[in-house]
Amino acid sequence: MRLLRFYRSSVGKKAVVGVTGAIMIGFLLLHAYGNLHAYFGAEEINDYSYWLRSFASHLFGYGGFLWIVRVIVGGALVLHVVTIFLLIRQNRRARPVGYRKKSRRHRTIVGLTMLISGLLILTFVVLHILQFTSGTLQPTPFYEKDGMGIVYINLYEAFQVWWIALCYVTAVALVCFHIYHGAWSFFQTLGYNNADRNNFFRGIAVALSLGLFLSFASVPVLFWSGVMPTPASVPASSSNAPQQVDAPTATNHLTIVSERGR
Ligand code: HEM
Repeated sequence: MRLLRFYRSSVGKKAVVGVTGAIMIGFLLLHAYGNLHAYFGAEEINDYSYWLRSFASHLFGYGGFLWIVRVIVGGALVLHVVTIFLLIRQNRRARPVGYRKKSRRHRTIVGLTMLISGLLILTFVVLHILQFTSGTLQPTPFYEKDGMGIVYINLYEAFQVWWIALCYVTAVALVCFHIYHGAWSFFQTLGYNNADRNNFFRGIAVALSLGLFLSFASVPVLFWSGVMPTPASVPASSSNAPQQVDAPTATNHLTIVSERGR
């Protein structure tokens, strides 16, 4: 009951937006760390993807831990979005008085940019999961084994195409812009908007968003520019016939892959 009363208040909603945002940033830090495995070769990142699914499998079964993460992050995303819309409605009804005109206009512009970037990010996440996780959307061939995408070769194929690499860098820039403003306004909500601490917290917001940008954006850039090695099993022919190919860096759990989308 007390929790619900807190949620009904504007401060409560801002706190929920901040905490759910922090959960998603936690996921992104983990995701960026996972992506960096690509720098060490196909085997490293494919193994990492397998590890994600087999982690604590004696407790939750194969893929169980990943599903727990998906439910937590998905729940945080839904709560984040719903609360933002409730907050917008609440703020509209409250019709704030006392702000100087310029300050109110600035807040409206920042709020609108956050809303638009948030909606674009949501669209990106849906398309991204359909491309790399389920393989439903295949602008380039999707390789899989036992229903699980083979990460390195899928990244390699996708980021040979300049506009896909560019879309990813743009999307990641949007995500980091959103995180920068989100983190900054979260600190203000927590009441840390104090002249002495502002530089420190702005520094944290910049380091977080810039660090995430560089680690995410470097992946499409390095694949597109040819720095990342070609996986051994990319078929030399551009035949459209579906085929079975040997996995590039065979580990005992990734030996034969099927290729869809050609
Ligand atoms: C250049 C940047 C990115 C690359 C190269 C990338 C790559 C990938 C890959 C390969 C997968 C599939 C992993 C697997 O099946 O083991 C994946 C999953 C996913 N990515 Fe990304 N990603 C990037 C950025 C992002 C961003 C910015 C977000 C969120 C805003 C995001 C959210 C997700 C989600 C939610 C999944 C699904 C995880 C799951 O349930 O299995 N990714 N990503």
